Formats: sequence, structure tokens, C-alpha cells
Amino acid sequence: MEARVSEMKKATIENPEGKLGVLLVGLGAVSTTFIAGVEAIKKGIARPIGSLTQMGTIRLGKRTEKRIPKIKDFVPLADLHQLVFAAWDIFEDNSYEAAVKAGVLEKDLIDQVRPELEKIKPMSAVFSQQYVKKLSGTNVKKGKNKWELAQQLIKDIETFKAANNVDRMVMIWCASTEVFMKPSAAHQSIEQFEQALKADDPAIPPSMVYAYAAIKLGIPYANGAPNLTIDIPALVDLANQYKVPVGGKDFKTGQTLMKTILAPGLKARLLGLNGWFSTNILGNRDGEVLDDPDSFKTKEESKLSVLEYILQPQLYPELYSKFYHKVRINYYPPRGDNKEGWDNLDIFGWLGYPMQIKVDFLCRDSILAAPIVLDLALFLDLAARAKMKGIQEWLSFYFKSPMHGEGLYPEHDIFIQLMKLKNTLRYLKGEELITHLGLEYYD
Ligand SMILES: NC(=O)c1ccc[n+]([C@@H]2O[C@H](COP(=O)([O-])OP(=O)(O)OC[C@H]3O[C@@H](n4cnc5c(N)ncnc54)[C@H](O)[C@@H]3O)[C@@H](O)[C@H]2O)c1
Repeated sequence: MEARVSEMKKATIENPEGKLGVLLVGLGAVSTTFIAGVEAIKKGIARPIGSLTQMGTIRLGKRTEKRIPKIKDFVPLADLHQLVFAAWDIFEDNSYEAAVKAGVLEKDLIDQVRPELEKIKPMSAVFSQQYVKKLSGTNVKKGKNKWELAQQLIKDIETFKAANNVDRMVMIWCASTEVFMKPSAAHQSIEQFEQALKADDPAIPPSMVYAYAAIKLGIPYANGAPNLTIDIPALVDLANQYKVPVGGKDFKTGQTLMKTILAPGLKARLLGLNGWFSTNILGNRDGEVLDDPDSFKTKEESKLSVLEYILQPQLYPELYSKFYHKVRINYYPPRGDNKEGWDNLDIFGWLGYPMQIKVDFLCRDSILAAPIVLDLALFLDLAARAKMKGIQEWLSFYFKSPMHGEGLYPEHDIFIQLMKLKNTLRYLKGEELITHLGLEYYD
């Protein structure tokens, strides 16, 4: 993607004609908060706060030019009225019932979009308790092996597309966090992966079956959970081969969002860190799933890596080589989706004098996640129309563990991520990239 300004040319981006199908794996708190939100925004009863595609602006050219359009007026994005939703879940609740049970939004608001929500009934899921120990449901597909289950998903998608007269689609994993897995032999090549599907290999969790089905149909895929899923050579190769943009992993919300806002600031001012203790209490179904140590391990890995990459202890050994980083998540049912995340930072400054920062973020997880789902759906669709394929590093802004090319380290600093995202949009439109040098103003 990197290009010298002199080499820049406008990408040919197809117009977002017709309907965009948003395929959601999992119809829980995040998915229903996203769908109900979009429907409420369409009716003019709520605003898309937190969404870059809906409210964000982008500066073009020099500061003196005063060209600062909204992002949605700058790049051709699908309009909210063009979105059509489909979902899979292991429970049969339609999206109205699921939204009420999730308890994120007030019943009053949900009732105002009830007819739209009731129309979305989850298709039966590819699921096995082996990968999410705390859940069991009845709306689950049966098949001879994982290959056959993938074919059933492909059929679901084709049926949805035809029934709703949909032009393009994107798929976003908003289902539960699966147990921790490491890449293994079955994940190394497309051939090995397909053999493993047919052999019903335990190395293939349901999330990979969905991702495989999506990519085979040319549908962009984003992974909102920390599961391994598409972060394996086989599926990245498949995405490149089928020219499909993909992104992941794990929506950046709550505590990690705060971390990637605070840590770059500490590093910018060369303030040292002795320790960062983060603890969370939450009581939604996600919290219940994460109460299982194997699912928690997947989440923990995703949350821990952030500071190492932002603070770069190898470059600043005196400041960051010894900090103690601990992350805890405790399932505490009374709190529901209204999580509380406490952070205690032990920092040090001039002459080594110690200081402390305490952050108590009373956040709402799904309220922070819903605009991310919307932006990912619209930007991945844009990427597909701009003929971008494979890992979309410019979407790192939205993820706790951004996928990255081989040999690169992930970029976690939210401000660098935002600059990368906006420069990618400028690049696509043939606008000058902004370096913030600004010397020309003083010539
Ligand atoms: N809310 C946030 O801020 C946030 C941030 C980062 C990541 N996430 C991740 O997003 C995911 C969704 O979060 P949530 O709060 O909506 O959780 P949730 O438990 O409310 O919803 C997940 C839904 O997925 C369903 N499900 C599980 N396995 C499935 C499968 N194989 N196929 C289809 N459906 C399946 C469950 O039945 C459940 O209804 C979780 O993995 C969570 O870790 C959430």
C-alpha cells in the first residue's frame, strides 16, 4: 500500500450499488446492539456516535485549503439504507428476543425497531462445545464432517442472497470466544486445511469453517473475537487467491481501547512504567464464556501483547523492560453488559520518582463494539470494491490484536492506526498523503 506521492493514482472503486448483506456469526449482545442501532439511526431516533464512517471527517491537502469532508462523502460507502442483515446462532431467539435478553439497550428503544428485529431469525450454527465449553444450544447444524458443514453454510449464504436480492456481502464474527489454539499442520496450506475439513480434524474450530465458506464465496471477513480463525497461512492464502479482503482480531473496545490511548502518551513523554494491573468485572454471556480458562487464555493473549508493542522495551530498556502487566477478567452477573474496568498504572518520571494513575472505566462493551461492526462492514465492502485483498492492515484501528504481514510487528498505537487508515483512504482517492511535516507553511 505504501506509495510515494508521485506514484499515487486513483484506485478504481466500483460504486456501492444495490444491497449489502451483513452476515453476522453470533446474534448476541454485540450483533443485536449493532442491528438495533442501525435500524434506530435509519429511523432518525438515534445517532451513530462512535462510528468513523458516519461521523468522521478527513483533512485533504494543506491546512490552508480547508477541505475537510466527511469520510462518507469522500469515499463511496454503502448507505445504511442499503444494509440487510443475516445471522447464525446456536439459540433460536430472533434478534428482537436476543436484544431484550442481552439487556444492553433500553426496552423502549428496542420496541421502536421491533418489526425490523423480529424479521432476523438466526440460521442454525456450526458449533461444537469442544471449542466454547460454557455454551450449549439446539440450533446447530449436523453434518458428516466439517467440509459438509462448510457446504451447508455456503448454501445458507446463497439462499439469503437470492431471497433478499443482495448484491454484495461481508461476514463478521460476533460469536463467542473459542478456546486458545496455536497454528498447527492443518493450518499451513489450503490443501492441508481442506483435507482437515474432510477429516473432521479437531484443529479446525467452527470459526474457521465460517471463514472458509465466506472466502470461498468471495465475501470479506472480519474476526471480532481473539480466536485464531483467519490468522493462519491457509486462510490468508485462500483470501489472496480469491481476492478477498480480511481483517482481525478482537474488537478494540473497553480497557484495551484505553490502553492504546494512554500508553502512546506515556511513551511520547518518556515516562517509565513499573506495572500495569488491569481487572474487569462483567456479567454478560461473553463474561460467562470467558470464565472458562481456555477461552480466557485466548482473550488474555490478545490483551497482553498490546503494551509490549506500543512501549517497545527493546528500544527503551530503562523505561519499559521490567514492567509487570497483569490482566484479569471476572464474571460477575449483576453487572450485565455494563462492565467495569479498573487500571492501576505505576509509572515513574524525572530522576525515577514514582507516580500512579488510576482509571476506572465504567463502560458498556457492546455500545463500544457496535460502531466498530458498522465501520468494518462498510470499509471491508469498500476494500472489496477497490480490489484490495488479503490482510487489511489499515483496519488495525479496530482490533486488539491486529493481523499483519509476515515479518512485520503489529501496530497497536491508536493514533498511528488512525493515520494509517486515513492515509489509505487518501491513497485510494489519489489525494496527497498527510505526513504532518508542515514546513511549507513557514517558507
Ligand atoms: N463487546 C465487546 O466490547 C467486545 C470486544 C471485543 C471482542 N468481543 C467479542 O465479540 C464476541 C461477541 O460478544 P458478545 O458480547 O456479543 O457475546 P454474546 O455471548 O452476547 O454473543 C455471542 C453469541 O454467539 C453465539 N455463538 C457462539 N458460538 C457460535 C457459533 N459457532 N456459531 C454461531 N453462533 C455462535 C452465542 O450463542 C451467543 O449468542 C465475543 O467473542 C467477544 O469476546 C466483544
